[in-house]
Amino acid sequence: MMPDANGIALEARDLRKAFGGVHAVDGCSFAVPRGKICGLIGPNGSGKTTTFNLLTGLAQPDGGQVLHDGVDIAGLKPYRIFRRGITRTFQITRVFREMTVLENMLSVTGLAVPDRVARERAGELIALVNLTHLRGEYGGRLSYGQQKLLEFARALMTDPDVILLDEPAAGVNRTLLQQLLEQIHRLQETGKTILIVEHDMNVIMNHCERIFVMDYGVKIAEGPPSEIQGNERVIEAYFGRRQSGVVHAG
Ligand SMILES: Nc1ncnc2c1ncn2[C@@H]1O[C@H](COP(=O)(O)OP(=O)(O)O)[C@@H](O)[C@H]1O
Ligand SMILES: [Mg+2]
Repeated sequence: MMPDANGIALEARDLRKAFGGVHAVDGCSFAVPRGKICGLIGPNGSGKTTTFNLLTGLAQPDGGQVLHDGVDIAGLKPYRIFRRGITRTFQITRVFREMTVLENMLSVTGLAVPDRVARERAGELIALVNLTHLRGEYGGRLSYGQQKLLEFARALMTDPDVILLDEPAAGVNRTLLQQLLEQIHRLQETGKTILIVEHDMNVIMNHCERIFVMDYGVKIAEGPPSEIQGNERVIEAYFGRRQSGVVHAG
């Protein structure tokens, strides 16, 4: 894939999506630089997951554009966006419960009979997230944290260019989280672009180079962690009206 001139991998331009009277995403714009780890944060209900759905074709935007390498992909079917090299994980995991860990991995290859290359890659990625001892176990029998790790590994099966992670740390224990973060950095080192929605502010503030903050469906702030932590609009969004969430890294 040819990177575009200004080094933007994925861009949302004035994205809009309403559900009935709820303006979940209400004119949201941000640009994810190629090869960086970025964070998308905001209070509960601010529109983060809906934005991910719009970026990946799971929801059709009411308006606006999604640019991947400068090409508008808004409204394309999920599989077409997936084939462009954009993949994601889900806030609520979508692991196949009646498939084993290995079968879950192979399910995204599109091959009726996965070849040796696919099997080897699956094995390597399963090892990467420390699930080798569970490769024959059914997805439905994994803990929530293990399912998140399996989803992460599965997202890498197709060697994507852009990886969107919706709350990857939720329910994952500290040791595994550390390994997950190492993997995320390793992906970045190989030139991948990563956008993370996450409530764990340690993850966001310590691992993202740039942070986009949403509230009520719009971006209210953008910058490096040092700027976002002290940003008054961000603090107000988290503490002012809702009395929930934390913006500081502990
Ligand atoms: N499928 C849907 N139908 C109706 N309302 C929805 C739907 N998805 C999201 N919403 C609403 O849109 C708003 C944004 O939700 P969401 O994108 O899930 O926020 P976040 O991920 O930031 O918590 C919320 O008010 C939520 O209730
Ligand atoms: Mg969400």
